[in-house]
Amino acid sequence: MKILLGVTGGIAAYKALELTRLFIKAGHQVQVVMTTGAKEFIQPLSFQALSGHPVRDSLFDANQEAGMGHIELARWADQIVIAPASAETLAKLRMGRADDLLTTLCLATDRPVMLAPAMNRLMWRNAATQENVDVLKQRGLEILPPASGEQACGEVGEGRMPEPQAIFEAVMRAEKMRLQTQQAGSALKAFWHNKALLITAGPTYEDIDPVRFIGNRSSGKMGFAIAEVAAKAGASVTLIAGPVALPTPQGVKRIDVRSAQQMFAAVQQQVAAADCFISAAAVADFRVEQPASQKLKKRQDEEEMTLTLVKNPDIVAWVAAQDNKPFVVGFAAETNDVIDYAKDKLRRKKLDMICANQVGEGQGFERDDNALTLISATEQRGLALSGKREQALELLAFIAQQQSSVD
Ligand code: PMT
Repeated sequence: MKILLGVTGGIAAYKALELTRLFIKAGHQVQVVMTTGAKEFIQPLSFQALSGHPVRDSLFDANQEAGMGHIELARWADQIVIAPASAETLAKLRMGRADDLLTTLCLATDRPVMLAPAMNRLMWRNAATQENVDVLKQRGLEILPPASGEQACGEVGEGRMPEPQAIFEAVMRAEKMRLQTQQAGSALKAFWHNKALLITAGPTYEDIDPVRFIGNRSSGKMGFAIAEVAAKAGASVTLIAGPVALPTPQGVKRIDVRSAQQMFAAVQQQVAAADCFISAAAVADFRVEQPASQKLKKRQDEEEMTLTLVKNPDIVAWVAAQDNKPFVVGFAAETNDVIDYAKDKLRRKKLDMICANQVGEGQGFERDDNALTLISATEQRGLALSGKREQALELLAFIAQQQSSVD
């Protein structure tokens, strides 16, 4: 692998030498780019001796550019690693600055970028730094959590650069995952290309009156991740979304609904065109029989209030009961006896497949990760905890496999 190692100003810069040595020893190629600040802490010659390449430090050095221009250098790398990454570097990357060679390279690359922050504990905890970290993560940069311990300034806390061995292992892990995703991606595209996927996501809101409703904790992240990955694999995706605050994934047709009845109507309208239906929405089982048209008032003499709820249509079971039905995938969100309840839903609702997930106690809902168990009539596969996009990839691959074995 070709690694571009950015070294920024900080006492941890000397540890980047050990990191260079680890990469070289494992057979990787390394080119080092230093900022002006980094050179205050360590000599470029040390990196040159270890990497076997002259260190790059200037955007405007004609000699350096003559060897390999900065755009060429950005393209040369398979992976960019910045260790240590100073608070200033995080801020510049977040802003999209290009006032030195390293930030310019990061702006001019489509390769993965991993950052190993190192700074004083208060600088790390500062709201500005944390906001920069959040934005960079959202943009897809991988940011390793800094280690805790005694700092160069004498303070104790979080902000130390992770050890070189830990950074090395994180880079190797990320590369392995990328290769696996690429391989899985090709198989996925072969199946999903031009398939029509209809998917529901998010909660439903059942109105009590104009200001109150019965809802649930679904954020829509699981269903949106599936829609995004399926669209990337070439499927034509229609996403029926309950009330969520998520952007529409690229290439996905989105229909917004609020209540279970609206979701049911949208599914009924769209399902005929679908090859596959995935019901990831957390649909309310009951709705208020008669929502009030005006805000309900609290009466002084009233200690209790009774709402009459009536059953909502079971959307996924309705789809599964149709003639010419698509391949139907349900979800089961359970707090206990997860697999038993999921298998019961698979049978009762006559689904082709179900994805069981544990919810409650910080699991399943709202988070960016999940751990699904995929269950069909003949197979059961438990997935390890990972990001919802990774879960989506495995789920779509499982569907492809189930349908291919039927064809
Ligand atoms: O949205 P996130 O925050 O990312 O969280 C993801 C999730 C936990 C919501 C998701 O992974 C999940 O489990 N979704 C299904 C939640 C749910 O309603 O499960 P259930 O066990 O109550 O329902 C079983 C199945 O029947 C589901 O496929 C559901 O969509 C469907 N159903 C339920 C009731 C109803 N009236 N109509 C339905 O179609």
